[in-house]
Amino acid sequence: MITETTIPARQKKMIDWESLRSDFPILQQKVHGHPLIYFDNAATSQKPRVVIDAVRNYYERDNANVHRGIHELSNRATAGYEAARARASKFINARSADEIVFTRGTTESINLVAASWGGKNLEPGDKILLTEMEHHSNLVPWQLLAERTGAKLVYLPVTGDEGLLDLSKLDSLLTKEVKLFAMVHISNSLGTVNPVAELCERARKLGIVTLVDAAQSAGHCPLDARQIGCDFLAFSGHKICGPTGIGVLYGRQELLEAMPPWQGGGEMILSVDFFKTTYKHAPHRFEAGTPDISGPIGLHAAMDYLDGIGRDNIFKHDQELAGYAYEQLARLNNIRLFGPKTGRAGVVSFLLKDVHAHDVVTVADQRGVALRGGHHCTQPLMRKLGIESTARSSFYFYNTKAEVDRFVEVVREIQKFFAE
Ligand code: ALA
Repeated sequence: MITETTIPARQKKMIDWESLRSDFPILQQKVHGHPLIYFDNAATSQKPRVVIDAVRNYYERDNANVHRGIHELSNRATAGYEAARARASKFINARSADEIVFTRGTTESINLVAASWGGKNLEPGDKILLTEMEHHSNLVPWQLLAERTGAKLVYLPVTGDEGLLDLSKLDSLLTKEVKLFAMVHISNSLGTVNPVAELCERARKLGIVTLVDAAQSAGHCPLDARQIGCDFLAFSGHKICGPTGIGVLYGRQELLEAMPPWQGGGEMILSVDFFKTTYKHAPHRFEAGTPDISGPIGLHAAMDYLDGIGRDNIFKHDQELAGYAYEQLARLNNIRLFGPKTGRAGVVSFLLKDVHAHDVVTVADQRGVALRGGHHCTQPLMRKLGIESTARSSFYFYNTKAEVDRFVEVVREIQKFFAE
């Protein structure tokens, strides 16, 4: 969902992309004697110095537990933790910070909704609609829920190698039995950008609850949960320049308030008796135990950093690099490319004839190019496409066209190497 709403005017400027690379200490190294070309950003992004510093400063100056102490350090830790929640709320244009639950990542966010909302609301005969391009994290939690509740899973098909959703099938799938429609925004293995606002609108008209997996989109394009009109949205910190182990679940307040806790323990209670407990309001009801505190603080720095560049600028840059990489690869013989020909996000998946994706990745690594090979946690999609795996290049704003040129040269070398 590309919107103008979260873009401050100061970001509408020319960006010196090359100079941003110096913000990332990790990018300044050689791997196997070659300058590192990091094209595995869909798996995790690299961290700028400001994020590393924010985490280090927290541990050096402010470390204490949150929400319990009344001493100075605890007050600082709590203020940092809650400021990050408010920042996350602004990052996706939620109505309030109360709509932001901190989790370990996208996977845990979706598991929370499945366990809490799903456990309360689904019955035998109900249906959960997913798409065929879902990551396992937006698929397995619903399978587990279906097993527990007797609900059934149904899938909106993907058209084929070009990786689009077959929207002509949507009307027939949005039946009255469907209680939830969970969909990925940007596909991690195809680079498809799904029309999530339209999908949510069509579901909402029928009273169907919606969840958007924004793991690949949150740090790559402006994201406005209210404009998308979803009920839930999930993303991870580590894919948007933040630390690992911290994620966000956005939930419309009305829904969060009606959901039972999913884990019990300290921090989430109002009062505990031997046989009965009352719980805090959302989001605290969903954050049992001592949370990750440095994570939200690092994530806060990451969100500031990204919005300093402008997520509209980042998206354009991603699209330019991916479009360029796709065009260059498409000129090669004996290559199969996946995902849409135009309008793709920063992901290009491919297969070379008679070369296993893992071999592509292994040889590329010897030349300093970090790719990913495998099923990308989308096994059902791979089976649908009649393949086991792809080699995947995935880009971010610190990647350059010169790196894409070198990567394509390496792919040519790999083809030659395996042809001999
Ligand atoms: N979901 C991440 C990826 O696609 C791990 O690589």
